[in-house]
Amino acid sequence: MQARRLRKLIPGIFVVLGTLGSAAYAQTPEPPPVWAYPVAPKDYVPPADDGSVRHVPGSSKGFTLTEIRDLFYARDWFPEKHAPMPSIVATGRPPNLRPCGVCHRPEGIGGPENASLAGLSADYIMRQIEDYRAGARSTAVKERAHVFRMIAALKELTPAEIKEIAAYYAAMKLERRIKVVEATTVPASYVPNWYYTPKLDGTSEPLGDRIIEMPDDEENFVNRDARVTFTAYVPPGSIARGAALVSGAQADRIPACAACHGEGLKGNADIPPLVGRSPSLIFRQLYEFKAGLRHGSMAEPMIENAKNMSLADMVAIAAYLANQTP
Ligand code: HEC
Ligand code: HEC
Repeated sequence: MQARRLRKLIPGIFVVLGTLGSAAYAQTPEPPPVWAYPVAPKDYVPPADDGSVRHVPGSSKGFTLTEIRDLFYARDWFPEKHAPMPSIVATGRPPNLRPCGVCHRPEGIGGPENASLAGLSADYIMRQIEDYRAGARSTAVKERAHVFRMIAALKELTPAEIKEIAAYYAAMKLERRIKVVEATTVPASYVPNWYYTPKLDGTSEPLGDRIIEMPDDEENFVNRDARVTFTAYVPPGSIARGAALVSGAQADRIPACAACHGEGLKGNADIPPLVGRSPSLIFRQLYEFKAGLRHGSMAEPMIENAKNMSLADMVAIAAYLANQTP
């Protein structure tokens, strides 16, 4: 194989590429677009807790900001609406096993800063955990510390815990929470902590070729209320372009997704659902398949598909998918 010959000639390069995930990265000259990988600023000082007890509509619970920010306790506003959380989802195991629920929420809806787990099949969830643990799935921007914190957490799970967590999240249902808006000019935003939110001064800025996805109610987003909705701004024409690509309009280059992802792209056994999910997440995954950062046991078809996608194709596909009901 050509790669093996190259490896003999210039072993140093492959050592470097190896740390990035796989030699497939060498085929991908385009760097990860900064907009898709917001990084929490190191000097960010979160607003102080004034000690008041916070509430969200319809819940009898009350938590202070300090309780909500507890990294080892997934606060649950509506425990009566779902099965009891496995202890790893709720409280983890300090010091390294952060609870899944703190990031992915007790309901598994996640946010643009991570991933929705609700509605994924148990087999798919278990395979992703294995891939992360084995180094077969990573992320493109090393400053995304929350991803590496999760990988450290996943490495501490026992086989029984993996099964229990996968069954718990697979039983959850993802509701539609994302509104996709095509626009050229959007609210100017900033990144307080892994996510975008509008600047308080109410100014606007050009969207360009980005997707900017923001919570509609930042306070309740910070409160981890699973009912918070999001607006995802996408470039004009994205939804129609994505619809065409997804349905195989250019099948010689990008095959129709339903062949594997099932009717309505709602998932098929251990192949994940794509609709109604965060477009930021979907974009990052397509990029990461293309960049060789996802190369687990079942990644091959997606590496092939993503190789033929431009970043603009990925934006259009993510916009279309997010605009569908899960
Ligand atoms: C510190 C925050 C954090 C914690 C804690 C965390 N995750 Fe994650 N998880 C993430 C992020 C961020 C991503 C998405 C990464 C990306 O965009 O590439 C993710 C992605 C995933 C995915 C991939 C979903 C998909 O659609 O492919 C799975 C599965 C997952 N997490 C499971 C878990 C489980 C199980 C736990 C608890 C043991 C856990 N996570 C704890 C942040 C976290
Ligand atoms: C030949 C089968 C096949 C086709 C066609 C296919 N996929 Fe996939 N896709 C998969 C498999 C298998 C996985 C799971 C990969 C893994 O576990 O590593 C996957 C995973 C994904 C993921 C990751 C989701 C997540 O939760 O992280 C995205 C995004 C995706 N596919 C998008 C698409 C899109 C968009 C299309 C159509 C343009 C498409 N796929 C066509 C087989 C396919």
